[in-house]
Amino acid sequence: MINKAIDVSAPVHELISSRWSGVSYDPAKMVDDADLRAMAEAARWAPSCFGDQPWRVIFCSKSSDSEAWQQAYSCLAEGNQPWCQHAPVLAIICADTLFSQTDEENAWGAYDTGAAAISICLQASSLGLMTHQMAGFSPDLARETFTIPARYQPMAMMTIGYQCAEADIPEALRGRELAPRKRNPLAEHFFLSGWGKGI
Ligand SMILES: Cc1cc2nc3c(=O)[nH]c(=O)nc-3n(C[C@H](O)[C@H](O)[C@H](O)COP(=O)(O)O)c2cc1C
Repeated sequence: MINKAIDVSAPVHELISSRWSGVSYDPAKMVDDADLRAMAEAARWAPSCFGDQPWRVIFCSKSSDSEAWQQAYSCLAEGNQPWCQHAPVLAIICADTLFSQTDEENAWGAYDTGAAAISICLQASSLGLMTHQMAGFSPDLARETFTIPARYQPMAMMTIGYQCAEADIPEALRGRELAPRKRNPLAEHFFLSGWGKGI
């Protein structure tokens, strides 16, 4: 993956700085089953409220089941489809809205599922893979297509694959792919000792 410099006021681990959400996938490079399994393991070991593990992830790999991949692709919003077409793996990430032990509402299901999702992204990064999460998809269509039970909420979709060579980035995606990464100032979001007291 292209290494994009990030502006930090203290050093962060290379795994954090090297992950970013690219849009140019190499159509010829598929994701190994073992790597997919490693990403699932990384998510499996995420923390969760009461250890309930509310996440459920459907991986759809173009190389092993092109029909499932196509079904997942159909769930994507029109704005996401063009750049997703070459991503060899599409994932649908769902959160259990109820605790498994009690069937009572789990207010932390989405929170925990986000933790599992970033674990997938970071494990992918460590394997040289690129990921990109998306809210731009139809949860209703995903539910219907993949018969996702009512208690699980489809939260996001994700692309997984290898970035193409810089020279092969399609013209329409170049600006976006090469743009610098940006964040708000640290003290706007992170406080010390009290609300609004920027770190
Ligand atoms: C929950 C969620 C939904 C997102 N939805 C989309 C989306 O529909 N389309 C898109 O191109 N990017 C989407 N993104 C990617 C963000 O725009 C991206 O993570 C953000 O701009 C920060 O960039 P970085 O991941 O490269 O650091 C989404 C990210 C998250 C976490």
